[in-house]
Amino acid sequence: MTTTAITNIASLVTNDPSLCADSPLGPIQDAAVVIEGDRVVWTGESSKAPATDNAVDAGGRAMIPGFVDSHSHLVFAGDRTEEFNARMSGRAYSAGGIRTTVAATRAATDEQLAANVARYLAEALRQGTTTFETKSGYGLTVEDEARALRIAARHTEEVTYLGAHIVSPDYADDPAGYVDLVTGPMLDACAPYARWIDVFCEKGAFDGDQARAILTAGMAKGLHPRVHANQLGHGPGVQLAVELGAASADHCTHLTDADVDALAQGSTVATLLPGAEFSTRATWPDARRILDAGATVALSTDCNPGSSFTSSMPFCIALAVRDMGMTPDEALWSATAGGAAALRRTDVGRIAPGARADLVLLDAPSHVHLAYRPGVPLVHAVWRRGERVS
Ligand code: NIG
Ligand code: FE
Repeated sequence: MTTTAITNIASLVTNDPSLCADSPLGPIQDAAVVIEGDRVVWTGESSKAPATDNAVDAGGRAMIPGFVDSHSHLVFAGDRTEEFNARMSGRAYSAGGIRTTVAATRAATDEQLAANVARYLAEALRQGTTTFETKSGYGLTVEDEARALRIAARHTEEVTYLGAHIVSPDYADDPAGYVDLVTGPMLDACAPYARWIDVFCEKGAFDGDQARAILTAGMAKGLHPRVHANQLGHGPGVQLAVELGAASADHCTHLTDADVDALAQGSTVATLLPGAEFSTRATWPDARRILDAGATVALSTDCNPGSSFTSSMPFCIALAVRDMGMTPDEALWSATAGGAAALRRTDVGRIAPGARADLVLLDAPSHVHLAYRPGVPLVHAVWRRGERVS
C-alpha cells in the first residue's frame, strides 16, 4: 500500500497524552505524519520521518485531528428563519418549533431529505468535521422515522433513533400512546438502522419516567443510550443518563451540584452544544464547573434548523472559549477526543499510529487560532480515511 508523509507541520495535535506530561493534546512541534491506506502509521519530528512513497509539504501550518461532531439533527426539510427572526426580537425558544420541521420533513421526498443531508455534511467536511453522529426526530411516525434513519445510515455509522423528540402532534391527546408507539412498532422499524437511542428529557417533551421507559426499551433491542438532558431547565435527564450508563448527556445547561457530581463519578460524557445557547440567547453551559469536577466534556454543533443552525465546529470552539470558561486546548480536545469519547470510539479524535487518518491542516501556526480568529475560515485541507477530500 502507498505511504504518504505530510511534513513541515509547525505543530501537530495528537491527543496522545503519553507524548507530553503537560498537555492531553500531546503536541509535537516541527512534526510529520505518515499515512498508509486509511490509517496513520507514524507520527514524530519531521527530521526523523521514515522514507515514504509520497510527500506533502504542510507549509509550516498546524495540524489537528478531524473534528468529531457527536450530536447533530441533519435529516430535515425546510428551515425556521421566521422563528429565528422572532427570537432575535425577544420571543423565547420553545420545543414547540420542532412541529414546524416535522411538517416540512414529512412532506419532503426521500431525495430531498438525502440531498439536504449531503449538503450539510459537505459543509461540515469543509470545516474539518470527519466523523459525525446524526438523528431522526423530525418524522415521528413509524415510516418517517425509519426513512430518516435509513437515509442517515448511508452517510455515517453513528445513527441515533430519536422518535422521542417530542410527542407526535398525531398523539397530542394521548402521550402514553405515543410512548407505546416509540417503544413498540417504531423501535422495531428503526432499530436495524441505528446504533443509539436518544430521548428529549425536558418539560414539554418527555418526563423522567417516560424517558427511562424509552431508553430501556431501546437498550433491550441492543441500542445504546444517549440523552438530551437539562437543556431548558433543571430535570432528571442527566442523572438518568448516568444511571443507565449512557455514552453522553447532551446540553447540560442547567445543572445542580448533584448533576455535576453524577457526571464526575460516572462514565457519561457531558456534551455541550454552544450553538444552541448562541441561537436561542440562552444561558451558557458552565464548562469550567463540569471540567473542574473531573467530568469529561465533548463539544458538538447540535446542527438543526431550530435551536442551532450551524455545522461549524470551529465556531463552537470559539464560543466555548469565549463564553464557557474553556481554554483553547480544552475546547480543541473536547471537539475531537471528547466527541470520540461521547461516541465510545478510540479510532478517531486522535492522530497516532493505528488511528484513522482523519486530519485537518489549519491556515494557522497553532490550533489556538480557532478561538483567537473566530469566524475566519482557517481549514486549509482535510483528509478523511487517508484521502484528501478538501
Ligand atoms: O437539541 N432539544 C431538542 N432538540 C433540538 C432542537 C430541535 C429543534 O428546535 O428543531 C436540540 O436543540
Ligand atoms: Fe439536539
